[in-house]
Amino acid sequence: MEKMLREMRERVMQNIAEARATSALEQIRVAALGKKGELTALLRGMGKLPPEERPRMGQMVNEVRAALEAQLEAREKALAEKEKAARLAAEAIDVTLPGPERSAGSLHPMNIALKKMVDVFVGMGYEVVEGPEVEFDHYNFELLNIPKNHPARDAQDTFYVDDNIVLRTHTSPVQARIMTTRKPPIRVICPGRVYRADEADATHSPVFHQMEGLVIDENITMGDLKGTLDEFARQMFGEGIRTRFRPSFFPFTEPSAEVDLTCANCKGKGVLPLAKLSQAEPGMATSQIKDLGGATVGCRMCKGTGWIEVLGAGMVNPRVLEMCGIDPQKYSGFAFGMGVERMTLLKYNIPNLRYLYENDLRFLTQYR
Ligand code: PHE
Repeated sequence: MEKMLREMRERVMQNIAEARATSALEQIRVAALGKKGELTALLRGMGKLPPEERPRMGQMVNEVRAALEAQLEAREKALAEKEKAARLAAEAIDVTLPGPERSAGSLHPMNIALKKMVDVFVGMGYEVVEGPEVEFDHYNFELLNIPKNHPARDAQDTFYVDDNIVLRTHTSPVQARIMTTRKPPIRVICPGRVYRADEADATHSPVFHQMEGLVIDENITMGDLKGTLDEFARQMFGEGIRTRFRPSFFPFTEPSAEVDLTCANCKGKGVLPLAKLSQAEPGMATSQIKDLGGATVGCRMCKGTGWIEVLGAGMVNPRVLEMCGIDPQKYSGFAFGMGVERMTLLKYNIPNLRYLYENDLRFLTQYR
């Protein structure tokens, strides 16, 4: 029995020394010192010993137990420390690492263009006013000299809410609201959303945006309108851009004009040089490729005309002034309505209206 004890002590000591984790130590402890462990089994065997040997063996067993316990404890402490160190190392945070990236937001290109449009007119002394998108027929049509059954109503495919209420088809009702509530001089712009029952395509959307302008004072002339829009075009698009007025008709203006701007894409030429791609080399700038000469293609932006229609305008029809309570003998004024989408496409040379509505971040974040 003594031999077995010694052998066991040696073997368990060896196992403790070789243990690599505190969990392994626990297994060793249970197997050696536990209630059903080896030492207990040896103690039970003591009954077979002659009585005079029992005290000595009992003492030996206790010594072995104490020695193993002490060794287990020491090893346990060492391993626990190591495990803690390893855990801390694994959980360590490098505070010098950059944090998670947060992308900066960007304005929608249409908002950037609109802000520029508004800035130009505010710089000329205009005030920004807004009106409702769900509008009375009265303001959207009647006060603008478009009575019921007037053919001009068909030209604007109107969404009717009921007989007297529509989704405004243009921003012009805001003009009417301003003229009926204010006295001249009036100088306002009215940006906002408008609705028309149009099929969506590259240039149409049932919901789009306009910016209305209205000036009423004494001695306002068509020359003022032209000068204002020329200056707007210059500030919005740069020096080379010109305006072109074409006679047109709106019930609420007389005379009326449709106004075109020089196409920014082809600089008014109507054609673009077609690169001789076979001669182009990697890394060449677009301008260098164009310099290679060759054929031209018709400009798709302006369909080869060199001009892009951007707004309707005219002198406020005296009938409208009168209906709105402004004396047409004393006052005159001009009005214009421009498409915000159209301005945005022009400003950034964007080929299709849909890009503005798809909310593709790869597209949107290009504009700051
Ligand atoms: N309201 C017109 C439209 O939407 C544009 C316009 C505004 C024309 C002001 C003349 C004067 O087509």
